[in-house]
Amino acid sequence: MKGLILSGGRGTRLRPLTYTSAKQLVPVANKPILFYAIECVRDAGITDIGIIVGDTREEIERACGTGDRWGVQLTYIPQEAPLGLAHAVKTAQPFLGNTPFVMYLGDNLVRDGITPLVRAFERERPNAQILLAHVKNPQDFGVAELEGDRVVALVEKPGQNPAAPDPPRSDLALVGVYMFDAHIFEAVDAIRPSWRNEYEITDAIQYLIQKGYDVRSHIITGWWKDTGKLDDLLEANRLILESIETCIEGDVDSGSRLLGRVVIGKGTRVRRSEIRGPVVIGENCVIEDAYIGPFTSLHHGVRIINSEVEHSIILENSSALNIGSRLEDSLIGKNVLVRREERRPRAYRLMLGDNSEVSVL
Ligand code: DAU
Repeated sequence: MKGLILSGGRGTRLRPLTYTSAKQLVPVANKPILFYAIECVRDAGITDIGIIVGDTREEIERACGTGDRWGVQLTYIPQEAPLGLAHAVKTAQPFLGNTPFVMYLGDNLVRDGITPLVRAFERERPNAQILLAHVKNPQDFGVAELEGDRVVALVEKPGQNPAAPDPPRSDLALVGVYMFDAHIFEAVDAIRPSWRNEYEITDAIQYLIQKGYDVRSHIITGWWKDTGKLDDLLEANRLILESIETCIEGDVDSGSRLLGRVVIGKGTRVRRSEIRGPVVIGENCVIEDAYIGPFTSLHHGVRIINSEVEHSIILENSSALNIGSRLEDSLIGKNVLVRREERRPRAYRLMLGDNSEVSVL
């Protein structure tokens, strides 16, 4: 089988970060989300992997390279515009040929991997295999309706889709991992753009069902996250951090206390601070007179001085200096400075990109 990982799209729900970076490269526990996708496909024994790329092509290529480091071969497939998941499949047709493939959305994380499902697909050879998960907010996803084990209908984002039944007919969301044989090309050629003007893979699968093709579904029970929104990204960070192992390569003074599982990278200095894991801190960071609370990931070069951070992701070379209160549930981009200032008049002085969000005390 081949792999197809989708890493194009616009990432509008993670602005302003995605004005300058691909959403699939936002790190979770200090590793880009996209790397988890590549590893998941590789672990299922698939080494010939196409990556759909859009405007952020260069950044994605720079981050992933040839695929050598994972023992896979990556082929970058430019998509002219993010016209939908089915359009991405069509774009990849020359790469995929007649080989059955796994399509994996580059912003999804599936904890338990997909290996047994790929094996079952290879053995039983249905025309398509979809993964489903029970969720609290089915209206935000593609939703499947089952009769017994059989999928009878699929609807994309019933919460926004004017043509969809209200409320959604089930709480089963389509997970962003699909397996197809070459019949999917017949389906993507047959469908029309949806209410949101995208060629939906959901509609293509619905076409396969209507034409009587063999579409199987599997309900996954381990956790799965679509990291397209801030809350889900922080939740994914929390879930990945749950399984880290302690590894201290930096320098921690005797005035500091580490509790629980903590990773501290090379060149990082921790002074007079308390760190309560699970926490991952990258290389060359400075943590002084600080509290770093559970479920926090600090990327390389971050400085937290006289400040507190919990349940947050802070990207490369950003700083929190003397802020006096705690940063919580936050996602902070690269090279950002958050500091307390004593100068008068006392005021919030902000320089924020478009679509930023700030909650003040
Ligand atoms: O995460 C699961 C959900 O993914 C499913 O439940 C939905 O049925 C499915 O439509 C999809 O919904 P999203 O609206 O979350 O998809 P999104 O636009 O975020 O795109 C998913 C990934 O595919 C993301 O990494 C960007 C990439 N992409 C997206 C489009 C529209 C492309 O590479 N090309 C595209 O044209």
